[in-house]
Amino acid sequence: MKKIISILIIGIIIIILIICLFKKERTNMNIENSNINNKSLVLYFSATNNTKQIAKYISEITSSDILEIIPKDAYTNEDLDYNNNNSRANREQNDKNARPEILNKLDLENYDIIYLGYPIWWEEEPRIILTLLDNYNLENKTIIPFCTSGGSGIELSVSNIRNYNDKLNVLDGKRFSPNSSKEEVITWINSLNINNNSNSKSAKLLINNKEYSITLEDNETVDALINNMPLNLSMNNLNGNEFYSYLDFTLPTNSYNPGKINKGDIYLYGNNCLVIFYESFNTSYSYTKIGKLDDVEVLDNIKSKNNIIVSLKIN
Ligand SMILES: Cc1cc2nc3c(=O)[nH]c(=O)nc-3n(C[C@H](O)[C@H](O)[C@H](O)COP(=O)(O)O)c2cc1C
Repeated sequence: MKKIISILIIGIIIIILIICLFKKERTNMNIENSNINNKSLVLYFSATNNTKQIAKYISEITSSDILEIIPKDAYTNEDLDYNNNNSRANREQNDKNARPEILNKLDLENYDIIYLGYPIWWEEEPRIILTLLDNYNLENKTIIPFCTSGGSGIELSVSNIRNYNDKLNVLDGKRFSPNSSKEEVITWINSLNINNNSNSKSAKLLINNKEYSITLEDNETVDALINNMPLNLSMNNLNGNEFYSYLDFTLPTNSYNPGKINKGDIYLYGNNCLVIFYESFNTSYSYTKIGKLDDVEVLDNIKSKNNIIVSLKIN
């Protein structure tokens, strides 16, 4: 009898263990899937739906999630009357400290890229965008601003956002007219050369014979680079922030100004200069993104060297 009870107990324990393992496996799968699906987000404020339409296009083109910043007090037509000095929107824009409340809780944590959209009000971003920056930590994300306006550019609002928090990585962004077509938005998205929600490839980088993994972008520059791997390079130290080497072949380019270079980023400068950055800084130059080192700490050990021997090979 005792034997039967022991066997029964062991059997139950084994069944419970199998159920737990199965559950864990499923949880991991969900986390992985959600990471892939949720990498980029279109986050926008729109008072009269012009920016909302562009936001929808971006979300469709990039397969990004989309989320509206909803003001606690909705803007009425009267509130938006820019001919009236005393209208709510005009009062807010005249008051640098105005921070209109946001109604909804924004779940932004899982996103690496945020397309941030808003209308231009008196040449600037509506103050509710600063409420967003006050309440949510967008550091470590790439912010790609876009706006609609009657004619004013996006530049002042982008520089306002950068100055508001210099730890943010904010690209130059793009202004659209209220009736811009989806094709115009596609052209802009393609010019960004951003890896939206796609499965990235990985490769190995050997620096002075030690192996490190890198995550590659999904673009035709990387495809052409992979065709030339394995690649052996002697890279020179420059400007206290990068190692560079000229390749003896050229690659297709799709360069843009990334705004901020992050430590560990790998870029192509021009059509044949490979650069590994070992410091973060703001740049005014344009590059084509190649990828990034997964473990950037390694760079601290080599940044004082005059040159390094690097091999690049696909996994
Ligand atoms: C209070 C207010 C101020 C505005 N200021 C400007 C401006 O300085 N320059 C401009 O080109 N358009 C300006 N506009 C027009 C809006 O930028 C434009 O209509 C925009 O597409 C509205 O976007 P939405 O529908 O997403 O709110 C202003 C609109 C409002 C309501």
